[in-house]
Amino acid sequence: MNNDNLLPQVRAFLKRAHGNFVEGLSEVGGGEAIDIINPADGSVVGIVNSATQQQANLAMLSAEKALGEWRNMPTLQRGALLLKLADKLAQEREALAQIESVCSGKTLQLARMLEVEQSIAFLRYFAGWAGKINGETLDVSLPSFAGEKYTAFTRRQPVGVVVGIIPWNFSIMIAIWKLAAALVCGCTVVLKPSEYTPLTLLRVAELATECGFPAGVINVINGRGAGLGAYLIEHPACAKISFTGSVATGQHIKESATKTGKKLTLELGGKNAALFFDDLNEDEIVNGIMEAGYLNQGQICAAAENIWLPASKIEAVLAKLKARLAAVKIGDPLDDATEMGPIANKAQYDKILNLIEKAKADGDEIIYGGQSLDKKGYFVQPTAIRAASFNSQLLSEETFGPVCSFIAYHDEEEALQKINASPFGLSASVWSHNISKALRVSERLEAGMVWINMHTFLDPAVPFGGMKGSGIGREFGSAFIEDYTELKSIMVRY
Ligand code: NAI
Ligand code: MG
Repeated sequence: MNNDNLLPQVRAFLKRAHGNFVEGLSEVGGGEAIDIINPADGSVVGIVNSATQQQANLAMLSAEKALGEWRNMPTLQRGALLLKLADKLAQEREALAQIESVCSGKTLQLARMLEVEQSIAFLRYFAGWAGKINGETLDVSLPSFAGEKYTAFTRRQPVGVVVGIIPWNFSIMIAIWKLAAALVCGCTVVLKPSEYTPLTLLRVAELATECGFPAGVINVINGRGAGLGAYLIEHPACAKISFTGSVATGQHIKESATKTGKKLTLELGGKNAALFFDDLNEDEIVNGIMEAGYLNQGQICAAAENIWLPASKIEAVLAKLKARLAAVKIGDPLDDATEMGPIANKAQYDKILNLIEKAKADGDEIIYGGQSLDKKGYFVQPTAIRAASFNSQLLSEETFGPVCSFIAYHDEEEALQKINASPFGLSASVWSHNISKALRVSERLEAGMVWINMHTFLDPAVPFGGMKGSGIGREFGSAFIEDYTELKSIMVRY
């Protein structure tokens, strides 16, 4: 790790006492102090002081108070503020990418491309919805009895204060998805980043204030999920919860939301499949696997972990993949030449290594990798595992790491049935030059997002979310409107 390469303002930011962002101001939390660890070398890069419940309560009240001003602001002015924030992120691109990289181990390249550039794209896209979130005018269907007339119309009204719970794998981008969607609908937000990656969002909130967002519209509360996260989502001022993260926590949150009657969007992981057909050559398949499974060390909820290969090609593909994985440049995430950084945190690192050991014990075959690197930091080799059978345990447990399982299939129908037997359904991909075949298969795959000849690519215009156990609701496109507004009908007699 070479921190000397960090911009001076990044070094200064990391050294500051961090806590929360409430009512337009940075404040130091009065709760537990949590070390922020650079997963590339295990060093402490900063400290975040968690919020107390009292501070979290003030954030919720501040968001509630700001609702009136924010929802009544002309829509174009709201949109203009989102555009301004996008420009600000563009100016601060390098600094934000560096902060994110040292806190999460994401390569600087990916932090620029996926965290900052994507956040800018999403902000601009959502800004474009300002002034276009409307109801409709309706013709009333019942007859009038005494010559009176009726008309009706609907409005889309903001649901209120949104609590966004953010995971550590994309701490800016996922926060921006929630923030931009909520704000353009007239909602205000309280965001809780993951305790592993709490810093970048504090900086984004400061930048938003510089752009002129009114105090209280964007708040950030830091602390542990089970304590503060749970407190925020149960708070009476919370109208809606938008959560991205693990299945287990998502289940918890669903139970809480059902009890308290809050609106809920859940974006959870699962065990996504990529299905390759035999009309592709080995190189095309290997390129597809690299895109589907190993980006950001596999720490992407939509990444593929189960790779279905035609039996006729599996040996040749795995031989080529082995060589490709051996050539991946693993190391310092701040080095532009690095292709793969460390796993984002120690808990995740232990979990991945544990799952690899379990797979070995179950008789699955390690084709490549399977080891941690003998150096400081939480590095795991990109790993390819050939499942011993369809029943291998690994095929149903999310590693959320650079680990793909490979299964040979003889029969397309059988492969489809096995893929669809999963209790999850966030994403899937199908790869073939035969586009009609790929389209046919895409209709049958039980996943909220199906890619053809691509994987992991998210676009703000295309709705995203899971089927089955992978989630509730959809983000992006026009689908978010349903999640962040309440449809109100107004009927008039005249
Ligand atoms: P997590 O789902 O527990 O944490 C995500 C966010 O939820 C964090 O901000 C956390 O503080 C918060 N949280 C935790 N418990 C909460 C509660 N009871 N109420 C409200 N908020 C709560 O994920 P974690 O522990 O960081 O990682 C565990 C596993 O989750 C990983 O090993 C990985 O497999 C998976 N994961 C999946 C993600 C996805 O996008 N699908 C993202 C991150 C992790
Ligand atoms: Mg993976």
